[in-house]
This record gives sequence, structure tokens and C-alpha cells, in this order.
Amino acid sequence: MLRKITEKVYAVGVNDFKRRLFDALIPLPDGTSYNSYLVRGEKTAVIDAVDPPFAAEWLRNIKAADCHPDYIIANHAEQDHSGALVDFIQAYPQAKIVTNAKCREFLLDLLRLPVEKFLLVEDKAALDLGCGLTLQFYFAPWVHWPETMFTFVPEENILFTTDFLGAHYASDDLYPRDEMIIYRAAKRYYAEIMMPFRVNVRKHLELIKTLAPKIIAPSHGQVYNHPEFILSAYTDWAGEDTKDALLLYVSMHDSVRHMTEIVRGELEAKNVTVRALDLTSADLGAVAMELVDARVVLLGTPTVLAGAHPVAASAVFLFNALRPKTKYLGLYGSYSWGGRAAEQLAAMLTAVKPEILPPLFFKGLPKPDEEKQLTAWAQDVAAKL
Ligand code: FEO
Repeated sequence: MLRKITEKVYAVGVNDFKRRLFDALIPLPDGTSYNSYLVRGEKTAVIDAVDPPFAAEWLRNIKAADCHPDYIIANHAEQDHSGALVDFIQAYPQAKIVTNAKCREFLLDLLRLPVEKFLLVEDKAALDLGCGLTLQFYFAPWVHWPETMFTFVPEENILFTTDFLGAHYASDDLYPRDEMIIYRAAKRYYAEIMMPFRVNVRKHLELIKTLAPKIIAPSHGQVYNHPEFILSAYTDWAGEDTKDALLLYVSMHDSVRHMTEIVRGELEAKNVTVRALDLTSADLGAVAMELVDARVVLLGTPTVLAGAHPVAASAVFLFNALRPKTKYLGLYGSYSWGGRAAEQLAAMLTAVKPEILPPLFFKGLPKPDEEKQLTAWAQDVAAKL
């Protein structure tokens, strides 16, 4: 579908309503989209390609604009935005692929593209499209690959931010109808993709403030015609403030679930906002979203063959990957004849170093005096909040 943003700028991307998993890992409750845009001056530029299975639909959208593209801008090399470049250069053999040197390096590794098709640009370079339209390129590395860049059309005041500020959200609506819906999708996306790069995120937010675009067009999700809400959300998520407690737990025979309820009850009695997620049923995106703001994470595990439950261990793996700004980590759980679950989980924590609270592990179901210890533990946690 060809959708008009301004007289000179169109959305030509595609929706993937049926996709349910990204990177063979991330659940997509709302599908996703692979956005692409067309900017038409005397010359025409397409901004970003799409995932390869959608190449034909995307090329039909471009054709519907009744123009012959001279350039395709590659803001990011990952295949969901570059894979269909191969089809594009077959359809438009005269067109140049405009990108930075680092992105070209990736594209040549990932796709079969002829090197002579590339036109390299430097940071802050401009490309004149004629009819008073220019494209300006701003390198924005590590959102979330090292080669990412933004493209700005100052005359239309539109900034194309590739994955940055995006959301896995498929919709026939170009703009958000309900900002809270896209807020949640964007937070999930931020948590899964951008959270480890908070320092860069803050730097790029500053750049965007100086450009002051009226419209922000990312490469997933909807176009922001009131970008202040997503910029404010990102400022909040990427800032260093934390709040709340998050309980992540696995329970095999109910002891850990029972412990979780005691801790949760005591935290709530102290007016702490708590979320408790059973790791065996919570989706990875929901866990990631809760990690965005959590000041304290409490991880509960039973003991399996003298060690932590593998599902609890995978939560620590996720913690290492996403590097949340969590300040405190507490480990609790149960065992039957011994084990080293707490030491094992603490040793696995390599990428981030929250303060580790004294662990609390009991044999089987906690006895009344052990329940009191759990309550006191929860009170210590509440004091940190
Ligand atoms: Fe949507 Fe990093 O690709």
C-alpha cells in the first residue's frame, strides 16, 4: 500500500501481521512491519528496504508511486531492512545504494550485492534530490548495530530513524490512534533491542532534539506525527532512574511459588509496586519490559540436580544480554538435599553488576520461622525502594 505522508514523502513499506517470533527468539504479539519510505524531488530516493519475503509487495508499492528511484538509502544493514535490496537493484539497475562505509561492509557480507552499486556518504553529508529537497545523513551508531544512521529531510522536517524509536506493531493505520497502545509496543521493542545501549540512546535523543523533526518515521511500527510522546518515553526508559520490584520465579513443587507470595505480600504491604512473573509461562518480551524500570529483581529458583533450574539460569542469561539498570538482585529458592543454585546464578552474572542481596534458600516448604526470615528479607528489599 502506498500512503502519503506529505506531497513529497510516501510510506511504501509492508505489514507482517502473521509474524509471531523475531530473531527466532522475541515474541511478536502484534506482528511487525518493515517500513520503507519514498522521497520524491527531481530525483527519487527510497529509504530502507524490507524483509526478503515481502520484496514483491514492496516493489509494487514503489511502482504505485509512478516514479523511477535513483537512490536507495540503507540506514541499517540488518536483513529485515536490507534483504530485499537484492530485488530492488534487479528492478532498478541504475539506482545507487547510499550508505556509510561500515554499513556497506555489512551489506557485502550479508547479501550478494555488487560493490560498484554503492555510493558512500560521511556523517552529516547531504544529498541533493532537486526540487528543493535534500537528504541529510547522521551517523547514529549502536541503535542497535554499529553502522546505523538516520536520514533527515529538513525541508519536510521528517526524520527516518531506522530501528530507533520503532515498535513491532503491524497496522493499516499510518499514525497511532491510541498512543498508549503504541507506547507498550515501543517499550517492549526498546527493552528487547535498545536497552543495552542506553548511553547511545541518550546521545541520539540529544541529536534528535537539535533537529526537532515534526515527523519521525522509524523502520518498524507506526509513524509519529506527534513525536514528543515517544521521545519523552525514550528519555524516561533510557534515563538512570529506577523504581519498583520485579519477582521472577520458577516453581516445581510449589515451595518457590509459596515463597514468592510471602515476599510479594510483604512488599505490597510496604506500598512497593511489585510485578511477579512465572518464568515458565511469561513471554520473554514481558520479562524484558519489566526489566526496563526495575530497581530490584528477585529471582526465585528450585534446585535441580544440585544447581539452579535451567529456566532461572536463562533469566540470568537474558539479564546479561539486556543489561538493565537494576540496582539490586536477590536470589531465593528451595532445595531438597543441598545445592549451589545461588552461587551458580551469581557467578553467571557477568555483564552487569547489581548489588547482590544475601540469598535465602530453604529446604523444602519454608517452616514458620523461615517464613519470618522471608518477611524480614522482603522488608530489607522494601527499604531499598
Ligand atoms: Fe529491524 Fe535491526 O533490524
